[in-house]
Amino acid sequence: MLISTKQMLLDAQINGYAVPAFNIHNLETALSVARAAEEMKSPVILAATPGTLKFNGSHYIVAIVKELAKNYSIPITFHLDHHEAFEDIKLPVDLGCKSVMIDASHKSFEKNIMSVREVVEYVHAVGGTVEAELGRIGGIEEDLVVTEESEFYTDPLAAKEFVEKTGIDSLAVAIGTAHGLYKSVPKLDFARLEEIRRIIDLPLVLHGASGLPEDSIKKAVELGICKINIATELKIPFTDAIREYLSTNKNESDPRKYLAPAKEAIVKVVKEKILLCGSNNKA
Ligand code: 13P
Ligand code: ZN
Ligand code: NA
Repeated sequence: MLISTKQMLLDAQINGYAVPAFNIHNLETALSVARAAEEMKSPVILAATPGTLKFNGSHYIVAIVKELAKNYSIPITFHLDHHEAFEDIKLPVDLGCKSVMIDASHKSFEKNIMSVREVVEYVHAVGGTVEAELGRIGGIEEDLVVTEESEFYTDPLAAKEFVEKTGIDSLAVAIGTAHGLYKSVPKLDFARLEEIRRIIDLPLVLHGASGLPEDSIKKAVELGICKINIATELKIPFTDAIREYLSTNKNESDPRKYLAPAKEAIVKVVKEKILLCGSNNKA
């Protein structure tokens, strides 16, 4: 059975660490993340974008994570990342997914609230949890492209109203992180994060963690971030490892051969990120 992220995130909030959420793409990436988390005794969230559900088929990818959750001793769950449409959320939730991000951050404040409420009602009815975003996180995440001009930070007071009116379980904040890698070292608005933390009691979520300096991640966790999203920094070493393997083994055509180093490359990064989140030995 897949669990919601309620207990995971509340435990992180109480004990001052963050649960890492890694974007997975297929069986190989899901297995590698789970194995690394098991070895580190860390709770872990396997996140899937609409693109990942489409690529694998929702039934298959949900079944994979359910099977992993059964076979590992750590809390492990499946999370829908950056889903913008209620219609895309229904099927995976009906299949047993209990953790959802509805991203209506591109809409007006009022319309964002309406979209989120609809999802909250549906997901809470099955005992699931909902994350939503207020403000607009920049950068590129698959089909989601937010230019620097359209990026804007989370307003603390608006966030308080947003939380009260939507009934969400966790809030994704925009404080200067962006999806993908950074052109220069990003300066995060920690004062804003502190202010949000002071007036909102929910677990807070940091997106766009790939490319962030280690001390920024640690500071964000100290200031109350309870979930950290990592995608790009797994994709790159996975693909680099395949490229490297094939460039030295030009005639190799066995996917099991060239995927093996790619899996190991992910395991290594996952372990490093778990240490930064402080979630090791918390399972
Ligand atoms: P990065 O690709 O920057 O790690 O962002 C991940 C993310 O926020 C997934 O929702
Ligand atoms: Zn994100
Ligand atoms: Na990033």
